[in-house]
Amino acid sequence: MTTARTTEHLPFGEKRDPRFFGRDILSVSQFDRSDLDTIFAVAHEMRGMVERIGTFDLLKGKVLTNLFYEPSTRTSSSFVAAIERLGGSVIQINNVTYSSVSKGESLPDTIKTLESYSDAIVIRHPEKGSAAEAAAAAAKPVINAGDGPGEHPTQALLDAFTILEEMGTLDGLTVTMLGDLKYGRTVHSLAKLLTLFDVKINYVSPEILKMPAELVAEVGAAGITQLETPDLDAVLPNTDILYVTRIQKERFENVDEYDQVKDSYVITAETMTRAKEQMAVLHPLPRVGEIAREVDDDPRAAYFRQMEYGMYVRMALLALVLGRA
Ligand code: NCD
Repeated sequence: MTTARTTEHLPFGEKRDPRFFGRDILSVSQFDRSDLDTIFAVAHEMRGMVERIGTFDLLKGKVLTNLFYEPSTRTSSSFVAAIERLGGSVIQINNVTYSSVSKGESLPDTIKTLESYSDAIVIRHPEKGSAAEAAAAAAKPVINAGDGPGEHPTQALLDAFTILEEMGTLDGLTVTMLGDLKYGRTVHSLAKLLTLFDVKINYVSPEILKMPAELVAEVGAAGITQLETPDLDAVLPNTDILYVTRIQKERFENVDEYDQVKDSYVITAETMTRAKEQMAVLHPLPRVGEIAREVDDDPRAAYFRQMEYGMYVRMALLALVLGRA
């Protein structure tokens, strides 16, 4: 991470907001409500620009590195789409067996190498804290695209943006998070981010996959009303946002434990008959059976639109971090 330089004569197109320019994006905790207002306003503008002209040259000449040590479809490709729609380019590193990482190179050395070729680095890594470690080694901005079960801040930002675009506001809503709340990094980041709004949060999960106690304490300390239950029916009728997650099989040490909980909750067309007419169903995807395909045709199913919103949010973040928003 670099700190913002104050330059009197900025190159054409440069607009450096010191809250974002040159900074890392590691955790949602770094943002306040006015930061979010800016990110969402820029994302909304990006949506309009893409709808009108598709691709434009805001980040022409900028190079992004996408460094993925864990599988990714949406996060990786939406960052590629985001930088390319802004006229920049990307160094894509998906398969660590093709890189010197497989030869035993340390994370800081890999980061130092890649930052010498690019203007910012997006990293996904299986270990909690790895994005912060990468940021400590880098002079260029590092964006956390998921550090194991830790955080996934850009996903939470796009989740919140989706809620805003779908419902018009976040304030006053009841958000129900369902599924793997223990290992799901997206719900960890989203719960923290929602403390900036006037919301109620319900956590519905099997007993062994409850939201970590320290996170519930943190969210509670911010004044948010929370309720934990294994019973979806107890909270569904009052839910405005149903945020469904996949059971994170890859994080279980014991496969039998996964088998016990893997089919705990399945949202079907019948479930939807018991939900509010104005509810939105979100899911970070991929799904592996927790939402039946018959739900896709329900207008409340927002999870495919959510992916598209994700590209606009990542365009906004790249433009802000690279000083051109
Ligand atoms: C999520 C992730 O990787 O944490 N996916 C994503 O980024 N859209 C959710 C998941 O893998 O279940």
